[in-house]
Amino acid sequence: MPITIADFDYIRKLVYDRTGVFLSEEKMYLVESRLGMVAKEAGANSISGLVAELKQIKQQRFNQLHESTVEAMMTNETFFFRDINPFEILKTSVFPELLKQIQGDRTLNIWCAACSSGQEPYSIAMLLREYFPQLARNQVQILGSDISTAMLKRAISGCYAQHEVVRGLPTALLHKYFQQCGKEWQIKEHLRKAIEFRQINLTEPFGSMPQMDIIFLRNVLIYFDVQTKQSILARVRRVLRPKGYLFLGGGETTVNLDPAFELVQFEKGICYRLR
Ligand SMILES: C[S@@+](CC[C@H](N)C(=O)[O-])C[C@H]1O[C@@H](n2cnc3c(N)ncnc32)[C@H](O)[C@@H]1O
Repeated sequence: MPITIADFDYIRKLVYDRTGVFLSEEKMYLVESRLGMVAKEAGANSISGLVAELKQIKQQRFNQLHESTVEAMMTNETFFFRDINPFEILKTSVFPELLKQIQGDRTLNIWCAACSSGQEPYSIAMLLREYFPQLARNQVQILGSDISTAMLKRAISGCYAQHEVVRGLPTALLHKYFQQCGKEWQIKEHLRKAIEFRQINLTEPFGSMPQMDIIFLRNVLIYFDVQTKQSILARVRRVLRPKGYLFLGGGETTVNLDPAFELVQFEKGICYRLR
């Protein structure tokens, strides 16, 4: 379905105001291809029709149709043990160091922000069970969050299609931590229970949460403009423990955005901590 410049501007403002995600002009084709289905479901026969409907409701409030429109514009790409190196760093350096630091005195807190359908926090939970079983049992709290209601629903259900469990997940872990559920695979209950999923919009106050030892904030800052990145990092800084670690995506950095962070180099890659 083709889109006019005026309708594109309306959609990108809607997406920006809600999520902070900035859609450049090159993303016009994406809006056209993704909003066709939303328009059809809303009974509109064009994107202009959808936009007219959105404008009319918006006079009253942000509703389900706005949410579906915004969610359709998000990139939810994720997979188990994505980019493997952050997980190697956790296994070989960060968890052993934090274990020494806390000496069993307190809970270790981990936050996977913008975790989409949950593969990232489940990967961490599996890694802990495999290599640090004593910690996994009673000394870790993992929080997974995303802005998307649909993604959080999937994360909580822990159900993944065949093509999702063959991406990044070793077969041995599939058989150990999943059960077949029709054509899908579901994470076993004990692992699902190990993670709390919560809706958090990174552009708004995060709400109450403990000080985090580890924050995964991967492959989401790339969608924001500089000002939004800086404001998110400033708030991330406040919930990261002084000796905690921040992991960003491969194409993301705090450099030239927030001088409070310094880069930590490990054999397998980098992450960040507070200076
Ligand atoms: C590409 S996925 C990254 C998933 C995972 N972190 C990874 O690296 O595999 C980006 C996620 O960011 C979420 N997102 C976008 N804007 C957000 C916001 N303002 N607050 C929270 N999550 C947001 C999207 O819903 C999407 O699930």
